[in-house]
Amino acid sequence: MTTTTTNVVPGLSGVPVAESKICFIDGERGVLEYRGFPIEVLAEKSTYEETSFLLLKGRLPTRPELEAHVTDLTHHRRLKYRIVDLIKCLPDSGHPMGALQAAVAAMGMFYPVHDVHDAKTNALHAIRLVAKLPTIVAAYHRLRNGDEAIVPRDDLSHAANFVYMLTEKEPEPHVARVMDVALLLHAEHSFNASTFASRVTGSTLADPYSVITSAIGALRGPLHGGANEEVVGFLRELGSVDNVRPRLAAMIRTKQRIMGFGHRIYKVKDPRANILQALARRLCETHRSRLYDIAVETETVVREQLSAKGIYPNVDFYSGIVYEMMGIPTDLFTPLFAIARVSGWLAHWFEQLEANRIFRPDQEYKGSHNLSYTPIERRA
Ligand code: ACO
Repeated sequence: MTTTTTNVVPGLSGVPVAESKICFIDGERGVLEYRGFPIEVLAEKSTYEETSFLLLKGRLPTRPELEAHVTDLTHHRRLKYRIVDLIKCLPDSGHPMGALQAAVAAMGMFYPVHDVHDAKTNALHAIRLVAKLPTIVAAYHRLRNGDEAIVPRDDLSHAANFVYMLTEKEPEPHVARVMDVALLLHAEHSFNASTFASRVTGSTLADPYSVITSAIGALRGPLHGGANEEVVGFLRELGSVDNVRPRLAAMIRTKQRIMGFGHRIYKVKDPRANILQALARRLCETHRSRLYDIAVETETVVREQLSAKGIYPNVDFYSGIVYEMMGIPTDLFTPLFAIARVSGWLAHWFEQLEANRIFRPDQEYKGSHNLSYTPIERRA
């Protein structure tokens, strides 16, 4: 067991590491704002494209600015054929987050960055990343199933085009809007692990492709973005509302973690979970699925037993159901998170560069000193 001194803060809990104007969270009241705009307002009135402008530029666009932003994002959707060839060489059995990470790292070789302080080229790299991530994820999914990658369409929104590239079908407007809202809700969330990873890498003045590669790696873990994949598997495994209470009682008794619950910052229900829950309910009604009822019973039991510890649903609890009902394969849930969050990561990269100092924390050294070197033949 490791002992910690009072100076060490495991997980940097409660330690501010930068000043930021991008995202505000009040974890006690369940408030989330992007650049000062409440998430509920954005989810109702905005689009992913507009929200990405807001995050990247710090304010809402005028109509001509939004049109130019949408045109830029549309124009940069296509992948170089060599990147598609690289994706073809990846194993079908791999996780799509690995394919995304590999393709983004490769982008750094195709689009070399000469000066990370050049605002104009930085803006272009950001557009390229936001635009191409959906194409990479869809291409890997198609290719691993033996299908051709689908060329993006210029006449569809960011969200609708992603669904189209996955399924070869233009989604119904209401499905496209659900995807749009889901992307918008995942676009930013202050100093979570993946954003911090992006800022740490950015602080070394590394190129944005390395920054985003780092962030994708951090997002993949089951304690972060990977949780939504596990939630749906768990709900499916529960199978019926009647199984929820006994199964959760056993898990809580043995101190197992329930995926999709708990958050470092929120001590009440994550406001994004409220919005996603409403979407999940409507979709489950349409598809006559029991998953929603099982999820609600799970939330009820967890609230009864763990709310005293501040354990409530986080964003990952209902998002998986929404994606499941849209027919998205489970292992694409976390890549979808990355497709959305790339706007937030890049906003933090810009902010980091504005007042950069390389991240280099300290440690409490607990190891040995000045040991005598025993020749290898005399070591036990
Ligand atoms: N289920 C059951 N108990 C939990 C859960 C959970 N999901 N989360 C925390 N707890 C309990 C812990 O066992 C601990 O209890 P104890 O004090 O009796 O030992 C207490 O709550 C505090 O837990 P910590 O691990 O200290 O909380 P931390 O802030 O470090 O972790 C985290 C936050 C990683 C999100 C945690 O709640 C968790 O593992 N949740 C499940 C995974 C998950 O859903 N991740 C997605 C988060 S949202 C996102 O990243 C997009």
